[in-house]
Amino acid sequence: MLTGSELRRKFLKFFESKQHKILPSASLVPEDPTVLLTIAGMVPFKKIFLGTVPRPFPRATTSQKCVRTNDIENVGKTARHHTFFEMLGNFSFGDYFKAEAIPWAWEFLTEVLELPKEKLWITIYNDDDEAYQIWHEKVGIPEERIIRMGEETNFWAMGPTGPCGPCSEIYYDLGPEAGCGQPGCGVGCDCDRYLEIWNLVFMQFNRDENGNLTPLPKQNIDTGMGLERICSVVQGVRSNFDTDLIKPLIVYTAELANAEYGKDEKTSTSLRVIADHARATTFMIADGILPTNEGRGYVLRRILRRAIRHGKLLGIQEIFFYKVANKVIEIMGDAYPELVEKKEYILRVIKIEEERFQETLDQGLQLLNDIILKQKEGNKLVLSGEDAFRLYDTYGFPLELTQEIAEESGLSVDLEGFEAEMKIQRERARAAHKEADHVASGLGELLNKANLEKTDFCGYDRLEVEAKVMAIIEGDRLIESASKGQEVKLIFNSTPFYAEGGGQVGDRGFVLGEELEAVIEDTQRFVNGIIVHQAKIKNGKVNVGDNVKVRVDSGYRRKVAANHSATHLLHKALRNVLGEHVQQAGSLVSPDRLRFDFTHFQPLTSEEIREIENQVNKAVRANYVVETITTSLTEAKQLGAIAL
Ligand code: SER
Repeated sequence: MLTGSELRRKFLKFFESKQHKILPSASLVPEDPTVLLTIAGMVPFKKIFLGTVPRPFPRATTSQKCVRTNDIENVGKTARHHTFFEMLGNFSFGDYFKAEAIPWAWEFLTEVLELPKEKLWITIYNDDDEAYQIWHEKVGIPEERIIRMGEETNFWAMGPTGPCGPCSEIYYDLGPEAGCGQPGCGVGCDCDRYLEIWNLVFMQFNRDENGNLTPLPKQNIDTGMGLERICSVVQGVRSNFDTDLIKPLIVYTAELANAEYGKDEKTSTSLRVIADHARATTFMIADGILPTNEGRGYVLRRILRRAIRHGKLLGIQEIFFYKVANKVIEIMGDAYPELVEKKEYILRVIKIEEERFQETLDQGLQLLNDIILKQKEGNKLVLSGEDAFRLYDTYGFPLELTQEIAEESGLSVDLEGFEAEMKIQRERARAAHKEADHVASGLGELLNKANLEKTDFCGYDRLEVEAKVMAIIEGDRLIESASKGQEVKLIFNSTPFYAEGGGQVGDRGFVLGEELEAVIEDTQRFVNGIIVHQAKIKNGKVNVGDNVKVRVDSGYRRKVAANHSATHLLHKALRNVLGEHVQQAGSLVSPDRLRFDFTHFQPLTSEEIREIENQVNKAVRANYVVETITTSLTEAKQLGAIAL
């Protein structure tokens, strides 16, 4: 029997023999800000497809780690749904197109994997006659096994915007016993008979925000085949969970729980949930994601906590999930060495999250069950937003978990009510952060009206320049001039003043003209890169159009710069002492102090704090020279720079 690992290797080797470069899987955390997680093999190549960066090579092939959570509530209940999966893919960056991609896919399936030809079916996009011809004439597929389908199934897009194109899918017929037996059952039927195994996307358009399609600079190929799926076909098992990629996790968890897989549906579902989620959790943490309440951190927390709760359902009392993750590392470590490298760390993060959730899980479940019972008694099949929020806020139940548990008893959750509670809490938090006030003010609108160009910032190597006054603002209106005693905002064509940003406070300094003397008390940056100086006119007068001297207070700047440098020393020491996962989450840099927020999964011990202090102080005493170098990203990385 071909193992999952062998299959992965065979795929990559096959395309290597067709002059593709084998690349390691990219991180689950994409560079592309339009997606939260890597959801397909093509995500790391988006810019190459769009033509905004040059292609490093014409062809590539990968087995890409992917996480999708849009169907998470189905994971565990079916044979095919996953949060984590691997996508096998071959890519052409403006090199070959349909005439090669189609026959190669066929060759791999029928000659390398030796799948029976008569079990394979093809779909193409409605009017894609070119694909039809290649399948029919070049590959020799009979007409009746090539099915034309619509946009919904046969036009693939990464998201609402971005590269996209028509596609052709290859299906495998699992035989009548797997199907619904209804007349008219065929490819595209909802039943399990015809299994989609490979998607060949002919990537040739870019879709913009308005939905318009424009042709890409070149025609590309992006294909994707789920490793677990093709593995189930090749290994002749009914479900992805029965392949050697996942089954050992189920067997292991069943042992832990003293349960039997396949005996009853509820137990089997829980075992599948845990197996799937252990894979997702392990890989996400390895790629630097930590369980939090936001963004991908929240996705991870949801997955983790859903799995832990299913452990409860199986009757497991102690913390266990980190052990399943350890098993994942055993199975996948060969193909993904980063798991082995980061093993201790991964297991520690999971353990801590388990312990944390365990503390409130029982109480929360108890509370939730009571509420559900009460609602049912009163014949009310809705759980209030307030209750859902309390479970979220106090007991750490992700909303989706509450929903899932409520649904098991036929109750829905008042989502609007939940959102309302969430909003109240957010507003409370916002009130505590008054600093952001100016964002909400009408200044942005005013600046728009003034039609200003981006301010030229020249403050890295100069502290004083001659500049022209472009606008003066008093209160909420634009004025032409200001004189002694007035407090106004000044905008220049060019400035050496560093605007507040990245947690560093804005510069202070002076503006001097023939008769003018003004002090700058703060500097802020606005949309479109306009830098706004908060000024007090001490003497004389300033007019729009005047040429003035703009000078930064060098003593103030030096102190701020020193604290800024100190954040980097602190960051480095944190990484030395706590581990490479420590990332900056925010900071405040002012002349007299600094604050540095960072991600870590537990409070620091006093020894750790002392060691960090020692390292920072040592670096301060060493009195290193601080240099500014302007260079390319690649060179900076070669010099050892950390991209924050
Ligand atoms: N990007 C396509 C998909 O995800 C083919 O890889 O299906």
